[in-house]
Order: sequence, then C-alpha cells, then structure tokens
Amino acid sequence: MLGNFEYVNPTKLYFGPKALDYLQRELPKYGNKVVLIYGGGSIKKNGIYDSVTAILKANGKDVVEDAGVMPNPTSDKLTEGAKIAKEHDADLLLAVGGGSVCDYAKGVAVSAYCEDDPWEKYYVRQERVDNKIIPVGCVLTMVGTGSEMNGGSVITNHAQKRKIGRVFKEDVFPKFSVLNPEYTFTLPKYQMVAGFFDIMSHILEQYFSGTDDNTSDYIMEGLLRSLIHSARIAVRNPQDYEARSNIMWTATWALNTLVAKGKRTDWMVHMLGQAMGAYTDATHGMTLAAVSLPYYRHIMKDGLPKFKRYAVNVWDVDPTVLSDEEAAAEGLNRMQAYMKEIGVVMHAAELGMTADMVEGVADATFILNGGYRELSRQEIVDILKESM
Ligand code: NZQ
Ligand code: ZN
Repeated sequence: MLGNFEYVNPTKLYFGPKALDYLQRELPKYGNKVVLIYGGGSIKKNGIYDSVTAILKANGKDVVEDAGVMPNPTSDKLTEGAKIAKEHDADLLLAVGGGSVCDYAKGVAVSAYCEDDPWEKYYVRQERVDNKIIPVGCVLTMVGTGSEMNGGSVITNHAQKRKIGRVFKEDVFPKFSVLNPEYTFTLPKYQMVAGFFDIMSHILEQYFSGTDDNTSDYIMEGLLRSLIHSARIAVRNPQDYEARSNIMWTATWALNTLVAKGKRTDWMVHMLGQAMGAYTDATHGMTLAAVSLPYYRHIMKDGLPKFKRYAVNVWDVDPTVLSDEEAAAEGLNRMQAYMKEIGVVMHAAELGMTADMVEGVADATFILNGGYRELSRQEIVDILKESM
C-alpha cells in the first residue's frame, strides 16, 4: 500500500550521442567561475576532456581544475576540493567522470562554505546543510551509481576506516547531467561489470522489502529484466550502443529515488559492501557482488514470498513443480550463475579482504532495520565469513 510521500527530482538530463551539445544550453545559467572536477585522467585519454574544455572556453568561462579524484573519494581530497572551490568563488562545479567524481562534487558543493569539519558534520553526524551550496553539473563517463540524478555522496576516511554515504536533499542533486552512452565504451571490463552489478544491487536493495502490492516492485522487475538482458550483450560486445544505452538509462532509474517511493527499502548489502570498502578500498560494485548471495541466502526465509516472486518474475523459475522455498532458492542459484557469467568477483578474498579484517568490518557495518529482518552483529560476522 502506498502511504504518504512527496516526490520531486530536479535534475535535468541530456541523453544520447549528442548530449554534450546541450552543455551550451546549461552554461549561460551560471556565473563565469567554474571548477572542472575529474578523476585520474581517463577523460584525457578518450577525448572527453578536450570536448568539455572546448565548450567551456567557447562560453568564456574562467575555469580552475580540480583533478585526481580517486575511486572511493576520500575526506582528505574533499578538504582540498572545498578549498579550491571557495578560493575560486565557484559558480558551478562541473563533474566529468563516474560516481566517484559526481559524489565528490556534491561533497565539495556543501563543504566549500561549511565552517565546521564537513566530514564530521555532513557524513558522520549527517546534519542538515545550513550553508551556501554550489550548483553541480555532471558529465557522466561510468555507469552504475545513479549519482547523476540523486543526492548520494559517498566519502571514505582512511584514518577512521569508515566509508559513509550521505543522501543529500534535492538542493544538492546535480542541476543537470549529460549522459552519452558512447562515453562508457572505453571503460575497462572490470569497471563496466562492477557497474552492472551496482545497478542490480540498487534495484534489489529496494525490491527486497515489504509484502504489499506495490507499483515500484513491478517497475523494478522490468528494470532488472532489461539490465540482465543488456548486460549479457554488453559483456560480449562492449561497443553495442543499444545495450550500453539501455544500461545507462536503467542505472539512472534504479537510483533516482523513484522506485524507492512507497518502499521501506533494505540497503544492508551496501552497508556490508561499504564497510568492506573502508578496509580494502576495493571497487564498489565488486564488494556488493561478494556479499550479496551470502546475505540473501541468509534472509531468504524471512522474505520468502518476495524471493519466490523474484525467482519467477525475474529469473523465469517455474513454480508449479517446486515448493516456495525451492523456487526462491532456485532464483538465487540462477542469479549466482548469471553473476559468474558476466564476470563479477564472487569472493571477498579476491578484493583484499583477509580473515583478520572480519571483526573490524563488522564493527564498521551500519546495521539498518533491514528489508525483512534486522541482523545481529554475529550474523554480520557470519555473512562476512561466508563471503570470503
Ligand atoms: O579516475 P579515472 O581516470 O577517470 O578512471 C575511472 C576510475 O578509475 C574509470 N573510468 C570512469 N569512466 C571511464 C573510466 N575509464 C575509462 N573510460 C571511462 N569512460 O573508472 C574507475 C571507477 O570510477 P568510479 O567513478 O570510482 O566508479 P563508480 O561510478 O562505480 O563510482 C564509485 C563510487 O560511487 C559510490 C561508491 O561507493 C564509490 O565511492 N556510490 C555512490 C552512490 C550514489 N551517489 O548514490 C551509490 C552507490 O551505491 C555507490 O555507493
Ligand atoms: Zn551502489
């Protein structure tokens, strides 16, 4: 049953091979001073940097660069970026990259004029943003996080061994995002596949909650079927525009807040994956892949009707000859086979996770209410051991 909710998504999207042309339309809406934010240099190799800077130049923008945003951006880098943005008196933060660059840009947007320590205030204490927020725009080059159309910003503090996600309100969402599926063609396979699993996980985190009849669940089943189909094609042929464009669009809708409406949602896979990431700095989507099946097999009986529905509606399991439990388990088996087929990491040990980290990762895991049941700390430990 859908209860009370409000829904708005203020991000304007430009999609398709010509999407970057529309940057021309957006730039005049902001003042002259732009901070161009990007990662470790992939955009210089594939030409996106040249295309973006040419448009900035043609519009007479005064540009300062903030480069070197690492995958899993850190609180130290955030401090540096906030200083650059404030000193430049930035009117716009233009993020060109993947989820890390977009997340970081949102972090800088709220941190530049924060008089407290932004890591402590906005990530650890999750306080309301009460200072000036610099507008953010994105040119997306890696697909998975949904950061292009949401308020998510995940920052890692290595000294504290904590990776914390903050979901900011609409005033921090990107004002616009440019989504050209062709930009994702140059992604290394490992990153591409990690992104595919990140999308799958975002959908499942929202799907596996509630027992009601909810429109969002039907939308999510459709998104999952599209993703499963297109990811298979993309793994065989990464240059397949049709598949890559469908995946890009699915990723955005998986986490732009729409399908969460009316849902309790779970997010325990992400809590486990993020804690693992704080210790290993591993690729986000792969941490999720390592913990997903141990977690879902652990809670399957608590949400049995939904796990059965997942098996039938997403993995085409025939329920007529199986018990509910057998059908649900078969759905997870098919998911496992699919994960192996597309080539995600199935074991945390391959991500640098060692047995002596388990207790620490368990401590770093935020235990949420859960989609179907709240786990105990011992269960977290058991799932982490199982994921090794
Ligand atoms: O840094 P460069 O050189 O650009 O290389 C990047 C990076 O090494 C490379 N890359 C990106 N686009 C490329 C490319 N290489 C070649 N061609 C291209 N077109 O890919 C690597 C990974 O990029 P990254 O941005 O780190 O990946 P992703 O988009 O998966 O972002 C991961 C971060 O997002 C957070 C994760 O925790 C992690 O910190 N998340 C953000 C969320 C949100 N905002 O809502 C939700 C997610 O669950 C997630 O937690
Ligand atoms: Zn994710």
